Amino acid sequence: MSAEAPFTCAFETLSPQERYKLLCAAIVPRPIALVTCVSADGVVNAAPYSFFNVFSETPALIVLGLQHRGGPAEGGYRPKDTTRNISESGVFVINLVDEALAEAMNLTAIDFPPHVSEIEAAGLSLSPGVSIPVPHIAEAPVAFECRKTVSLTFAPQRELLIGEVVRIHARPGLVDPKTLRFDLEAYKPVGRLFGNSYARQSDRFDLTRETYAEWAAARGLAP
Ligand SMILES: Cc1cc2nc3c(=O)[nH]c(=O)nc-3n(C[C@H](O)[C@H](O)[C@H](O)COP(=O)(O)O)c2cc1C
Repeated sequence: MSAEAPFTCAFETLSPQERYKLLCAAIVPRPIALVTCVSADGVVNAAPYSFFNVFSETPALIVLGLQHRGGPAEGGYRPKDTTRNISESGVFVINLVDEALAEAMNLTAIDFPPHVSEIEAAGLSLSPGVSIPVPHIAEAPVAFECRKTVSLTFAPQRELLIGEVVRIHARPGLVDPKTLRFDLEAYKPVGRLFGNSYARQSDRFDLTRETYAEWAAARGLAP
């Protein structure tokens, strides 16, 4: 790799694959939503999505980037099972992925036909939903029950889904019920890097955020 000049290019000159490469390698690690949802005929579906994050707490909004299958050469785009199920039912669960769940999560990404449950194929089990009729993955350290708020279409191959979290489930020992603090040592979440690479969160460091007055005082400046 050359260190001679900074790399820059305009995104309009790039192909979709090239944009994907640059965005997904630079914006890391991304959390992984292992989404469970239920089809119209009652099959529970699970699939991982790393175009995912939280965007606000009031309302408690999360966003998923759902890419469609197919393309112009294949007679058009077809929504993935997750996209179709959520658009029909309006409800879904975001299961977070820890080190113990990573391999099973990867199995759920196989493009199983709609009548095959990824849950069984990956050897996972389900716990019933409480606020919505969608089960969460019993092995997941944390699960958020969500209702679809809105879905936005910016291009024929992709949908941006915004959902509101209505309930959390967390494994015993993960959240202190009094302080609502998470025990990160017990949590062990994994993040997606790019391609088949993932990251553990075992190398953390703290930065204390100062007020302006503290910052100025530390430098002998007038506040
Ligand atoms: C770690 C990981 C992250 C993924 N993130 C996304 C994503 O953000 N958007 C997407 O459309 N597909 C993503 N995929 C691919 C889907 O999981 C895959 O297409 C899956 O088969 C979709 O299943 P479904 O048809 O049951 O929804 C990801 C796969 C993996 C392994």
